[in-house]
Amino acid sequence: MGLISSTQAVPETSAVPQHVAIIMDGNGRWATRRHLPRTAGHAKGVQAVRRVVEGCGRLGVRYLTLFAFSSENWRRPAEEVSLLMRLFVQALEREVDKLDGQGVRLRVVGDLTPFEPRLRDLIEQAQARTAHNDRLHLSICANYGGRWDVLQATRRMLAENPQLAQHPDGIDEATLSRYLSMAWAPEPDLFIRTGGEQRISNYLIWQLAYTELYFTDRYWPDFGAAELEAAFEWYRTRERRFGRTSAQLGKR
Ligand code: FPP
Repeated sequence: MGLISSTQAVPETSAVPQHVAIIMDGNGRWATRRHLPRTAGHAKGVQAVRRVVEGCGRLGVRYLTLFAFSSENWRRPAEEVSLLMRLFVQALEREVDKLDGQGVRLRVVGDLTPFEPRLRDLIEQAQARTAHNDRLHLSICANYGGRWDVLQATRRMLAENPQLAQHPDGIDEATLSRYLSMAWAPEPDLFIRTGGEQRISNYLIWQLAYTELYFTDRYWPDFGAAELEAAFEWYRTRERRFGRTSAQLGKR
């Protein structure tokens, strides 16, 4: 596939991260601080998504992956879950034309089986509609969990290659990673989490092995182009060694 695994080889790096993965945290607290219902924070969060998609397109990012709903978010109150689903539906209905016009290819990644058929249809339509685009690959992780991803990859790999169960030594990182739900994307260069927590929260756990991790106290609804550029500025200061020493850098 031509994609470089950070544990198997040293990938090329560039000043602008090619793949940015974001945990959009702090919507609830943003709203609570303003004595608004938590759901108002999610609605505001959609505007931040728009700003960040535009910013990434303008700055030359190729892959943007957003954690919209984790496998664990079903534990939230039913009305918050249903508002989030409504927001996805609305965003898909309203934004797809614009995304298409911006050259964005949209994919929704995760276990979509529990979502209602209408939402799944809209997802399929939006994916088909934007499938020809290549400027920015926008992935929305919905009902996604990193452990779910590794498990589904293992199950699919063995279902398609039953002989591997008899010869497990034949399984290497490249074999398994071909079955991950984002196998078509390079590993993230930069991870951003807003909202002040410093956790990975079961996001892309396989792919984040060598990703630079950036945390900001800013709540997601307050995140925009300036905050994105600040994160990229920080990224440029990082020395990406991929296991090597500082002295080895520059002699690939
Ligand atoms: C985390 O904030 C955010 C979420 C669980 C949902 C993210 C959803 C959106 C930004 C809106 C919809 C997105 C798209 C792509 C249409 P939180 O509720 O955990 O905040 P808290 O930690 O302050 O409670």
